[in-house]
Order: sequence, then C-alpha cells, then structure tokens
Amino acid sequence: MGKVFVLDHPLIQHKLTYIRDKNTGTKEFRELVDEVSMLMAFEITRDLPLQEKTIETPVMETKASVLAGKKIGLVPILRAGLGMVDGMLDLIPAAKVGHVGLYRDPKTLKPVEYYIKLPSDIHERELIVIDPMLATGGSANDAIHSLKNRGAKHVRLMCLIAAPEGVEVIKQEHPDVDIYLGALDEKLDEKGYIIPGLGDAGDRLFGTK
Ligand code: URA
Repeated sequence: MGKVFVLDHPLIQHKLTYIRDKNTGTKEFRELVDEVSMLMAFEITRDLPLQEKTIETPVMETKASVLAGKKIGLVPILRAGLGMVDGMLDLIPAAKVGHVGLYRDPKTLKPVEYYIKLPSDIHERELIVIDPMLATGGSANDAIHSLKNRGAKHVRLMCLIAAPEGVEVIKQEHPDVDIYLGALDEKLDEKGYIIPGLGDAGDRLFGTK
C-alpha cells in the first residue's frame, strides 16, 4: 500500500495557513504556493540516491556525496498544478516537465485527455504528479492511469491539501504511489470542495472567477 506523508515542517504549515486565508490576494497566494512547493520539493527528494565523488578541497583530496543522477519528471495536472511547478524547479532545475489536462465526460464518465505532453523517457523517470487539491481523487487517479498506460513505472503524488476521500481513492487504485501532502483536511463538502481547504486553487492562483 502506498504511504501518505503529511509534511508538517513548521515553515510549510505557517505558509499554508496564509494560503488558506481568504484575505490573501492573488499575488501573495502565488508567492506562497511557490514557496511551499519549493519546501515540499525539499522533503519529497529526501530519498534521492547519492554517489561518492572525489574532489579536492583547498586542504586535501576527499570523497564527498553528489546526486546519483536519478531522473525526475514533474507532471502538473492542468490548470492548478501549474502553480506549483516553478517552486519545485527552483530546487530540482534539471527535472523535465510533462503536462496532463483531462476532464470526465459527463455522459460516459470516462476520462478525456484534452492535453498530454510528456518527456519521451517517462518509463525511466521518477515522476511527481502535482495537483494542489486532492479532493475526490478523480483527476489525480485518471492522470496516474494515463501515465502508467504510457509506460510510467515510478510515480509519486504531491498535493498542498487532500481530503481523506481522495487519499483513499489513490491508495486503492494505485497502491504503488506514495502521496506527499501539506495537510490532510477533514472532508469534502456537498459541492466537492475540501473543507476547511482553501477554496478553488485554480481561481485563487490565476485570479479568475
Ligand atoms: N479543487 C479545488 O481547487 N478546491 C477544492 O476544495 C476541491 C477541488
């Protein structure tokens, strides 16, 4: 079963509080999401493998650690996932970025990909699917299925806030996927909003509505 990590670092929790606050305007909201994404990238990369390299300090030759070069791919789910990409790239600048846009056909209830563009070597990348809000889990579930159908082998999911309902869907459908959260909230309301949540992440990021 996939593991669920709530990243309870004080800086993440502090910034998340202001992200949730309805009085936080678009500019500050974006900046805070950027900062939290960077901090979450720090936590989610904790287990990246290292290798030894011989270097010379001004004093002597020594062996020191460098990243072993595991390839990372970020896959934001359109559109709100876009708001978390730049902060993550600040810490993982060599990551490639794929994009997935999908919706559920209201008649067939099947996921329809209206946009998908991925690095050609996703099968050998550690993919981090990014969606700020894991509500019903529908989009993240569909996006992860899309990636796996295209050959993805290693997938993690990163969200600012999740509802238990969404976490359960991912755990059931993708037991191989670890989930990294800024917060695990109480539940969904009758309109599918996470409560207490932060409202509509896309609208707050892009100043729409
Ligand atoms: N999507 C959002 O942006 N917010 C929610 O609360 C649920 C889904």
